[in-house]
Amino acid sequence: MSLLDKFRHKRLEAEVDFENIPKHVAIIMDGNGRWAKRRSLPRKSGHAMGAKTFEVISECAGELGIKVVTFYAFSTENWKRDKDEVESLMALLEDYLDNGLKKLKNRAQIRFIGDMSAFSESFREKQRYVEEATKNNSGFLINVALNYGSRDEITRAVRSIAADAAAGRLAPEDVTEELISSRLDTGGLPDPDLIIRPSGEFRLSNFLMWQGAYAELWFDKILWPDFTRDDLLRAVADYQRRNRRFGGR
Ligand code: FPP
Repeated sequence: MSLLDKFRHKRLEAEVDFENIPKHVAIIMDGNGRWAKRRSLPRKSGHAMGAKTFEVISECAGELGIKVVTFYAFSTENWKRDKDEVESLMALLEDYLDNGLKKLKNRAQIRFIGDMSAFSESFREKQRYVEEATKNNSGFLINVALNYGSRDEITRAVRSIAADAAAGRLAPEDVTEELISSRLDTGGLPDPDLIIRPSGEFRLSNFLMWQGAYAELWFDKILWPDFTRDDLLRAVADYQRRNRRFGGR
């Protein structure tokens, strides 16, 4: 770190109120492809750098005292990409399932959201093993969204409610916002306070649309592989400067 970077880092740290850290931060890891293109590298190199950033930022989130951090790693739409790219993403995810636990310095719990039925049985077995092996870690929670899309998640939740209604286990008036929330993949978790999207896009792209109804949104043009601890601090400091009213006055 250069002297100027150290100075900037100290100044940022001083800006953050450590008594008012958002409980749940959700991140859309975008810009890997453009990062690679700018360096004339294949897209998979961008994803590999993105996976490194994912590890650094999950660790940093724990150190900051964020209780839940959700990363958008693979969307329901990402299957439409070239076979090579999908395979390279699957290889990175599988590597994380195989080796991620060893790197966990901060005793985090790891969970996955999304429709896992699309993955191979061996992939799902590894995913279940990681969830099981970390389920008693109380430091904080790393939530990884795989084959995830909000519309798909809401559809699955509504289907399960409809099945209960058809079987006579639920009456129409039992269907409340709380019930719907509890049937989502994030059931039991607090809603995100802050959603971060780097890479200069200003969209939520089917990410936590129900849960993010009142989330503060933070956009920046930085590409995900370049995203640093200081960028997370910047986003948290900006979040803390905002006045959250949840529809009230
Ligand atoms: C979007 O960038 C990013 C993705 C579709 C994949 C994100 C996945 C990772 C960072 C790897 C995750 C790994 C682990 C271990 C969780 P893009 O390809 O759309 O970028 P572009 O818009 O610049 O083309």
